[in-house]
Amino acid sequence: MKNLFRGELVRLTDEEPEVLAKAFAKWARDTEQHRLACDDPAQLWSVKNIQDHMESHPEDSPNSFRFCIRTLADDVLIGSMDIWVDHWTHSEGWLGISIGERDYWGKGYGTEAMKLIVQYGFLELNLRRISLGVHGYNERAVKSYEKVGFKLEGRMRGEGFRDGVHFDGLWMGILREEWFALQGA
Ligand SMILES: CC(C)(COP(=O)(O)OP(=O)(O)OC[C@H]1O[C@@H](n2cnc3c(N)ncnc32)[C@H](O)[C@@H]1OP(=O)(O)O)[C@@H](O)C(=O)NCCC(=O)NCCS
Repeated sequence: MKNLFRGELVRLTDEEPEVLAKAFAKWARDTEQHRLACDDPAQLWSVKNIQDHMESHPEDSPNSFRFCIRTLADDVLIGSMDIWVDHWTHSEGWLGISIGERDYWGKGYGTEAMKLIVQYGFLELNLRRISLGVHGYNERAVKSYEKVGFKLEGRMRGEGFRDGVHFDGLWMGILREEWFALQGA
């Protein structure tokens, strides 16, 4: 049987709130990371504020699944990702990921983590499709998602506005049958 939570580079974990809050506070201070991963205005958060927020918004929804990402080689907490389902009637999941530790960008860790969460979505949650949104300027993310099997499905022209420049929002998706075909390839 497949181990859903372990790849060759990373394993998925749940972290103690204080460990995760400390990591989130550190990653929030990295403007580039924030602008690659988020839409909202960059903001600074104390560890306590993050922990208070996590306590008042417990991750106990049956529709949302968070995983933290640790390297297998050196056991470093490098990022986190979520998969959530808005309506089970449609069996569609949405994904978001961020490798917060920038030293681990471009080395395949995020792509492998994405493969694990997509596998979780299709094998454990029995989803029909998985969708995601990405900023048009995030070329590394687009390439990574294509390697996982996502296809570009839509472009919202001028969706975002930063540094006086409008940028496009991209929508990508992968269907259950496409993912199964890739596993057999
Ligand atoms: C996006 C992310 C998950 C990708 O994971 P990753 O493990 O870093 O990706 P990979 O190392 O597999 O690289 C993906 C591809 O992008 C290419 N790439 C790497 N850096 C790049 C860059 N700066 N610009 C363009 N392409 C780049 C790589 O060469 C690779 O393509 P290849 O396999 O054809 O050579 C991760 O980098 C990340 O979380 N970044 C910060 C936050 C973020 O962007 N989140 C996503 C929000 S939608």
